[in-house]
Amino acid sequence: MKRVLVTGGAGYVGSGLLRTLLNTGFQVDCVDILKFGGDSLLDIWTHPGFAFHKIDITDYPAVDRVLQQADYHAVVHLAAIVGDPACGREPELARRVNLDASLHLIDSCQAAGIPRFIFASTCSNYGKMSDPDLYLDEDSPLAPVSLYAELKVEFEHYLLDSIPRQETFAPTALRFSTVYGLSPRMRFDLTVNEFTKDLASGRVLEIFGEQFWRPYCHVGDFSRAIQAVLEAPPEKVAHDVFNIGDTAENYTKKMIATELLRQIPTAQIEYVYKEDDPRDYRVSFEKAKNVLGFNISKTVPQGIAEIKEVITQGIIADPEEQKYYNIPHQRPA
Ligand SMILES: NC(=O)c1ccc[n+]([C@@H]2O[C@H](COP(=O)([O-])OP(=O)(O)OC[C@H]3O[C@@H](n4cnc5c(N)ncnc54)[C@H](O)[C@@H]3O)[C@@H](O)[C@H]2O)c1
Repeated sequence: MKRVLVTGGAGYVGSGLLRTLLNTGFQVDCVDILKFGGDSLLDIWTHPGFAFHKIDITDYPAVDRVLQQADYHAVVHLAAIVGDPACGREPELARRVNLDASLHLIDSCQAAGIPRFIFASTCSNYGKMSDPDLYLDEDSPLAPVSLYAELKVEFEHYLLDSIPRQETFAPTALRFSTVYGLSPRMRFDLTVNEFTKDLASGRVLEIFGEQFWRPYCHVGDFSRAIQAVLEAPPEKVAHDVFNIGDTAENYTKKMIATELLRQIPTAQIEYVYKEDDPRDYRVSFEKAKNVLGFNISKTVPQGIAEIKEVITQGIIADPEEQKYYNIPHQRPA
C-alpha cells in the first residue's frame, strides 16, 4: 500500500484530502501544527492507515526525521500561511514558512528518495489579465500582487526550473482556483462561503467590485485533482504545472450574487463600486483536462446550496467563531 505524507493536512483543503486518500487505499501521514485546532482529524484519528506528526515545517531536523522514517511514495505540500491578509499581517513568518521551509522540504524529499512531490500553488499568481477577452493558461505571464502570491511564484520557479531533472523525482505544482465548499475544517473567509454564510444568516451583503473575474473550484475537487496527479505516470507530471478548476467556472462577483439571489430570494445585496482590482483573471483549465483527464464534480451553485443548508439547519451553529477564519475575525454587529 502506497504511503503519502500531507503537510497542512488538518487545514481546509488538507482535511478533505486525507479522507479522499484513505478512502482510495493510500496510507496517510499528516504533518501539521494545528493552527486552527485538531477537530478536523477526529473521525480519522483511529483509522489504521492514518498517522499524525505534530511538527512545524520550519523545524528542519524534525522534518528530516519524519521524511526518513517511512517509505513515502509522495509528499503533498499544503502547509502555509494562507491568503493575502494572513501573509500581509505576518510577512516574516510567511516567508519562513511558505518559502524557506518549503525549499527545505522539497530538498529533503529528494534526499530521502521520495519519488513524488505536489505543491499547492494558486491562480492568483496571474494577477490581472491584460486582455479581458482571453483566458490565462499555464504559459501566461505571472504577475503576483501580494506577498502570498509572490512567495508561491518564487517556490514554483524553484520547483519547475531549478531542481535537476532526474527520473527518480517528479515534482508538480498545482495552481488552484479560489476554493469553496464544505470541509472538515471549515473556512468562512473565502468568497463563496462568506457570501453564502452572510446571506443565509439574514445579513445584508456588501459586494465590492462586482465586475471582476475569478475562477472557483470545490474543495473536494482539489482532492480529486491531487489524487489524479498521484496516479498519473510520473513523466506526465514531472516538473510541470497545472491550473486546477474548470473553464466554465470563472465567475464575476455579480454572477455569484445572481446565483445567491436565485437560491436565497430574500437576500439583500448592496454593490460598492470599485474602479480597479489588481486581481482580475479568467483562467483556462484545459491542460489538466487533457493531460490528467481531470474534470470537476461540483459547481458554484452546488457549493452555495451546501453552505446554505449547514447554516440554515444549524449544523454549524456559530459560523462567526474565530476557528473558521485565517486572520482575527470581528463578529458582525
Ligand atoms: N483555499 C484556497 O482558496 C486556496 C487556493 C489556492 C491554493 N491554496 C493553497 O492550499 C493550501 C492549503 O490551504 P487551506 O485553505 O487548506 O489553508 P488552511 O489555513 O486551512 O490550512 C493550512 C494548514 O497548514 C498548517 N500549518 C501552517 N503553518 C504550518 C507550519 N509551520 N508547520 C506545519 N503546519 C502548518 C495549519 O495548521 C493548517 O492546518 C495552501 O498552501 C494554500 O496556499 C488554497
